[in-house]
This record gives sequence, C-alpha cells and structure tokens, in this order.
Amino acid sequence: MKKVRFGVLGTAKIATKVGQAIKDAASAELVAIGSRNLEAAKAWGAQHGAPQAYGSYQEVLVDGNIDAVYIPLPPSLHCEWTVKVAEAGKHVLCEKPTALNSTEVATMFAACKANGVQFMDGTMWSHHPRTRDMKAVLKRGKLGRLRRITSAFTVNIADTPEQIRFNPELGGGAIYDLGWYCVRAALWAFDDIPQRVYATGEYHRGVDINAAVMMWFSDQRTAAFDCGFDMGLRKWFEVAGEEGNLVCDDFLAPTHIDTPRFWTHDDSGNSETHLSAGVVQQTEMIQRFCEIVCAGALEERWFRESLDTQRVVDALLKSLKQNREVAVEDA
Ligand SMILES: NC(=O)c1ccc[n+]([C@@H]2O[C@H](COP(=O)([O-])OP(=O)(O)OC[C@H]3O[C@@H](n4cnc5c(N)ncnc54)[C@H](OP(=O)(O)O)[C@@H]3O)[C@@H](O)[C@H]2O)c1
Repeated sequence: MKKVRFGVLGTAKIATKVGQAIKDAASAELVAIGSRNLEAAKAWGAQHGAPQAYGSYQEVLVDGNIDAVYIPLPPSLHCEWTVKVAEAGKHVLCEKPTALNSTEVATMFAACKANGVQFMDGTMWSHHPRTRDMKAVLKRGKLGRLRRITSAFTVNIADTPEQIRFNPELGGGAIYDLGWYCVRAALWAFDDIPQRVYATGEYHRGVDINAAVMMWFSDQRTAAFDCGFDMGLRKWFEVAGEEGNLVCDDFLAPTHIDTPRFWTHDDSGNSETHLSAGVVQQTEMIQRFCEIVCAGALEERWFRESLDTQRVVDALLKSLKQNREVAVEDA
C-alpha cells in the first residue's frame, strides 16, 4: 500500500503524540515539520524523526513530497491554514475544535471539496475500536430507548502566558477545548443533534474556563455535561436508556491502554464489564485517514461530524454569553 506522506504545521505539544502516530501507522510517513521558528523546527524534526524542517508553514505546503498536512495550530488559525493546505492540493487532518464557528467550517469544507481533498478533525476517541463496541451495544437495544447522556471532561490547566487555552485571540476556552468532546459524545450516542441548548459558566481573561450545559433533543431526550480547566482529570460518560445504562469512565482515552473498558448495568442490578482491543487511538485515526486518502474517495462523514459538532458549540457559546436557551439552528 502507498504511504501517505505527512507534513506538520507547528511544534505543538499534541504534535509529539500525533507525530509518533504518523510514524507508527502502517500507511503513513512523517516527512516534514514547519514552524514559525526554523531552529524550533529543526529541533522538533531531530527529536521526532521528521527529515525535513522548515522555518515557515508555507514551505510545507509547497513541498511536492507531501500528500497530507496535520494542523495542530491554535483554533483561530485552523480555518486560514486548512484553506491554504486544501488549495495546495493536500489532504487535511486538523485539530479540534475544527474552527471558531461553523461559518469558518463551511469555508474550510468548501475549499477541501473544491480541491478534492479529505478533511478530518483530530477527535481521536472516534477511532478507537471501543467506540464501535459501545455503539454496537447502544444499537443492540438492550438498554431500551436511549433517554439521557451525561458526561464530563475537566483538566486542571494553569493559566500561563503561553497557554493558548486562556487566550481569547487564539480561540481559547473550555467549551472549544473540552466541551467539544462531550458534544461529540452526545451526537454520537443519539445519532442526532440537539434542537436547543443552554450553557452557564465562568469567564476568566475573556475565555470560558468552565461550563455546565444542557442540550435538548427531539422526543424529550436530553444530554448534560460539564467541562472546565479548574478541576482534576475527569473524562467519563453515561448513556442511560429506559432499561439500563452504559458507563465509560475514560471515553476520551483509555486509562489502561491494553484493557479499554466500559460497563453496562440493568434494572435488576446486573453489571457487565466489556473489554475492547487495546490499541493506540491516535494511530488508528492516522491509519483511517490514510485509508481514505489512498482509496481516493472523499468520506463526507468526517466533514458532517465536524460541522454538526461545531454548530452545537456555536449555540453553546452564544447561550453562555447571553445567559439564555439558544436554538441550534439560530446560532
Ligand atoms: N486531539 C487531541 O487529543 C488534542 C489534544 C491536545 C490539543 N489538541 C488541539 O491541538 C491544538 C494545539 O494544542 P496544543 O496544546 O498542542 O498547543 P500548543 O502546544 O500551544 O501549540 C500550538 C502551536 O501552534 C503554533 N502557533 C502558531 N501561532 C501561534 C500563536 N500565536 N501562539 C501560540 N502558538 C502558535 C506554535 O508552533 P510553532 O511555534 O512551531 O510555529 C505552537 O507550538 C488545539 O486546537 C488543541 O485543541 C487536541
């Protein structure tokens, strides 16, 4: 199988993890790193095994040996660089949140489609086999009709000058950074998007540092989550049905990589522990992306999932700012 040759834009912390995944995935090859600083690019390249280092992002785009570009830049730069990468004829793997709003996402997708390149966002847990296993349980119907999803993603993050998450100019904020995943989880479990949402939370330095959220779906189904930079690590969800529930205490990434687990419980007090294949989810993501690129047929599903998630995030940010319920279609 042909290997997809990757360039990376920016020496981001997350690029360490994904750079390793690019090296580990059977169908991918790490070719180049671009940074605003050539010395930083050279150091990153030497440390992570990228043979070509550039002192700008633009040089990655014009490198004829690159098929796909991974964009782990701050959210405020995702739209601009996705459009540039697409116009350079290269496939795009862009970190989450996809952009600052769904208008930007639409611009990004139009550029990708016009240039015949794939887009995928960096929501890694979607690619873990455990996610497919949990979905199979939800579809099997043993839990009865699904009624409510509850989730949390919190990480204690210090407010330092270099921390992009506390910078409103760069697309900081807990809903973009963490709530994104909880929104995706609700959309994934219900196979639907909410009709209206409400968010409340606290701001610090112009960004939301925590939020508590309600989302109302059709048929009186609901989802709730909280996210924030001010608590220790929590990364769980519960999907509750009329006859049982499914709990995953680490859906973002298995705590024990070799034994990814989740539980189901029924009304008689029976619990079952489910184990899935132990894999590295970011390597699975890269491999999936490469399979699509190699097959040469764009997969719309990934565009749609990004856009749907972003539409709900738009509504949540509007709700938080205006302290009122917001219809997703009006956001
Ligand atoms: N999927 C996941 O599991 C996951 C996990 C963590 C983060 N993320 C996402 O990945 C993205 C990056 O997060 P991160 O924590 O890795 O960020 P980070 O370490 O702060 O890196 C961001 C990079 O962007 C470049 N950059 C360009 N303009 C910048 C500016 N004005 N200020 C700061 N950096 C700038 C820098 O690279 P150069 O200096 O080399 O140009 C920097 O290294 C975010 O969208 C985040 O939400 C995803």
